[in-house]
Amino acid sequence: MTENHTLTVRDNRTGEEYELPITDGTIRAGDLGKIGKTEDEPGLAVYDPGFTNTASTRSSVTFIDGDKGILEYRGYPIEQLAEKSTFLEVAYLLIHGELPTKEQHDQWVHEITFHTFVHENVKSLMQGFRYDAHPMGMLLSSVGALSTFYPEARNISDPTVRHEQVVRMIAKMPTLGAWSFRHAQGKPYVYPDNDLSYTENFLSMLFKMSEPKYDPDPRLAKALDVLLILHADHEQNCSTNAVRSVGSSQVDPYSAVSAGIAALYGPLHGGANEAVLKMLKRIGSKENIPAFIEGVKNGDEKLMGFGHRVYKNYDPRATIIKKACDDVFEVTGVNPLLEIAQELEKIALEDEYFVKRKLYPNVDFYSGLIYEALQFPPEMFTVLFAIGRTPGWLAQWSELVDDKEQKIARPKQIYTGDRRLEFVPAAERWANES
Ligand code: ACO
Repeated sequence: MTENHTLTVRDNRTGEEYELPITDGTIRAGDLGKIGKTEDEPGLAVYDPGFTNTASTRSSVTFIDGDKGILEYRGYPIEQLAEKSTFLEVAYLLIHGELPTKEQHDQWVHEITFHTFVHENVKSLMQGFRYDAHPMGMLLSSVGALSTFYPEARNISDPTVRHEQVVRMIAKMPTLGAWSFRHAQGKPYVYPDNDLSYTENFLSMLFKMSEPKYDPDPRLAKALDVLLILHADHEQNCSTNAVRSVGSSQVDPYSAVSAGIAALYGPLHGGANEAVLKMLKRIGSKENIPAFIEGVKNGDEKLMGFGHRVYKNYDPRATIIKKACDDVFEVTGVNPLLEIAQELEKIALEDEYFVKRKLYPNVDFYSGLIYEALQFPPEMFTVLFAIGRTPGWLAQWSELVDDKEQKIARPKQIYTGDRRLEFVPAAERWANES
């Protein structure tokens, strides 16, 4: 029990002591704000760029124990979900908090399948992009644009309206993602085929050509489904924080999710698997690995796909992806970079530099290899990530909307600029310029 635990703080500026309650390993920033507060001075605040030690919410969506390498969605271990569930069932779990009955599942799958089409004007909008537009930029714009097609979405206090937008977004994301992919290739957009499963339909929209019906390889569909499950949520990461922060203004969920996509677009968040591929290609062959590792240890560069802010153990998603590699390569043939990756991992895991710093493969170490084998160009990697993360963003957004404690996100700052300068009109300032 932590309820009766407290923290005693002595403010040495005044000699005053304060007793702050500790709940769930946290103190309330608002309680700190009472320290040293006077009529003229604000109370004590916390300075925490990047929110590295600040809990912004209570959440029951995802649990991570980085030291032990544990990831659970709504209490279910990721390993079990990846092995025994489907992406749509996991999406239901994340959104609703519990696993569906058969009837709930069938209804959910039906609803999602029913909403895979988008308005023809969304298609026109996407066709208006330049031939070489980045698919992630296209995805984020088109998801944002959906808010104009469903203006009722701004009524976020109505659970029925909310549910409808959640369904629409999970349903339409593969359509928008696949069309962004086809656009860059100058190929016609493929409409959804609602006879197929979620992932099979996605493959069809990506790769169908002149055949009347696309026949997806079930092993590839399964591997892609697993990858989507692995990316479905990861608690308060950068993009989820963006969704929550923008969502806290009570904007519609399309706008909030497009903020999440924008955050994921950044190389520090969604781009590491592309960096892994580039690194493996640069290493080129197993013989070059020792020299590469020496370079990493000398601080010349990083071993991409290794290390994680939260996981100080094997990222559980990396273990699962490694297995998925075998299934995909059985169909596509082995990606020659796999051999280098495996050898690199073996050497790194035995090397004191990596052991001492608790650097293990993360989710990105192997995912790029699979995506490349599936013929995705690197620009598509973050789009795949975004499709997988959509149920997580929406589950977190729904939790935010229902959370009575949440307020509009509005951090404090420490002001470092000038004060009380005298403004001189432009004409006077410029008159003195030589
Ligand atoms: N290769 C070599 N050394 C590394 C690596 C790496 N990949 N990652 C961390 N280190 C070293 C650091 O240099 C540091 O060493 P030092 O103590 O001698 O200075 C030590 O390990 C601790 O690293 P930090 O940078 O403090 O760890 P942090 O938690 O800030 O960084 C991060 C985590 C950004 C993921 C980092 O490990 C990294 O850059 N990895 C490579 C990029 C990558 O794979 N990113 C994907 C993350 S997963 C995801 O976003 C979905």
